[in-house]
Amino acid sequence: MANLHSNSSASPSSTARDRLSSISSHIMGPSNPSVFTTSTVAAAPEDPLFGLMKAYREDPSDKKVDLGIGAYRDNNAKPWVLPVVKKADDAIHNDPTVNHEYLSIGGLPDLTAAAQKLIVGADSPAIKEKRICTLQTISGTGAVHLGGLFLAKFHPQKPTIYLSNPTWANHHQIFSNVGLNIATYPYFSTKTKGLDFDGMMQSIKNAPNGSVILLHACAHNPTGVDPTQDQWREIAAAMRERSHFPFFDTAYQGFASGDLNKDAWSIRYFIEQGFELCVAQSFAKNFGLYGERTGAFHFVSAPGADASTANAHVASQLAILQRSEISNPPAYGARIASRILNDPVLFKEWEDDLRTMSGRILEMRAGLRERLEKKGTPGNWDHITSQIGMFSFTGLSEAQVKTLRSKWHVYMTKNGRISMAGLNTNNIDYFAEAVDSVVRESL
Ligand SMILES: Cc1ncc(COP(=O)(O)O)c(C=O)c1O
Repeated sequence: MANLHSNSSASPSSTARDRLSSISSHIMGPSNPSVFTTSTVAAAPEDPLFGLMKAYREDPSDKKVDLGIGAYRDNNAKPWVLPVVKKADDAIHNDPTVNHEYLSIGGLPDLTAAAQKLIVGADSPAIKEKRICTLQTISGTGAVHLGGLFLAKFHPQKPTIYLSNPTWANHHQIFSNVGLNIATYPYFSTKTKGLDFDGMMQSIKNAPNGSVILLHACAHNPTGVDPTQDQWREIAAAMRERSHFPFFDTAYQGFASGDLNKDAWSIRYFIEQGFELCVAQSFAKNFGLYGERTGAFHFVSAPGADASTANAHVASQLAILQRSEISNPPAYGARIASRILNDPVLFKEWEDDLRTMSGRILEMRAGLRERLEKKGTPGNWDHITSQIGMFSFTGLSEAQVKTLRSKWHVYMTKNGRISMAGLNTNNIDYFAEAVDSVVRESL
């Protein structure tokens, strides 16, 4: 036993391991054969976005540009702690009443009440008629999941959920994990690099009655293309005609236009039109609380005599689902967001911070388009400024994206999406030069 851990020249380490294994099987008896072998569990592919982040981190070039992950960066390419978040955070640290007890199953009531008002509007009929319920979730991802799980379990028709093509990649994984059937509707026109409105409307009209349609409330990920208000009206009319159920995902309120109300317009319009719907809301981007996993799920029942009781039933079932999945949501980010949302002075400061972020992104959009046009880079670059929010769907091909990475150390997803916040006054000239070069090379 004495030399079990030593590798003497007479006993290579594999021999020691074999001996150890034979001793342990002698002591414990033969082990059961493994169920989860390499043939039962195939290796999953790496998450493309997190893989991209890793490759960026490992690239030693001092020219490298990260346009992959959808997280805000300041003009020095650094994560930005919003000044108002820092203030709320300091206040929490100095508050002797704060402790580390569990939140309730539905989360922090001050947060959920404020989150409701923020997204549907304080004077929403849904709030007045007590037909909206809200649970705090593990950021937007948790909200999408909770909504998907609820629909999979309680929708009497087991409907198909229609996702935009393309959409945030995780939508496919989340909804298939809960067992919903998934279909897609056309969304992006490669010709105009804008909305394929006719294709989208056709799909909505052709989908079986009562389908679930997932809609990005604003700043569509990955395309940066949103319907106009008139187009939203037509979408709503077509959905009402077919009794479809809208599932809104809102991860960029205030981040798209810098105006919280404008970015919530689509959801409020659908509620005004009397839809029963749900909303997955993330506070990751607009508060810069990415890792704190703060968000909310809202369910709005259709107006009617029974609406508030039906909504209470929904809330009670959501609470059961939440209890079994996460027991109760995390407190830290919720406390920060809640302080800001419930304090009029901090709220105003937050709006300033939102304008700082959305304003810098708008400047980068204008700057990139201007540079490409000045260089005469082949193609039309209007879409860089007509798209909105964190992302731009550049129209660059997978091969061009590959060259940008191998030759220029520019990291972006292979579908040609760039996170605008990765651009700044230090790297925008370099990026424009890189794009100009790969576009010309592939003519
Ligand atoms: C459309 C969309 N929904 C939901 C999310 C969820 O993000 P999180 O879970 O970080 O709040 C994101 C994040 O990128 C998103 O783009």
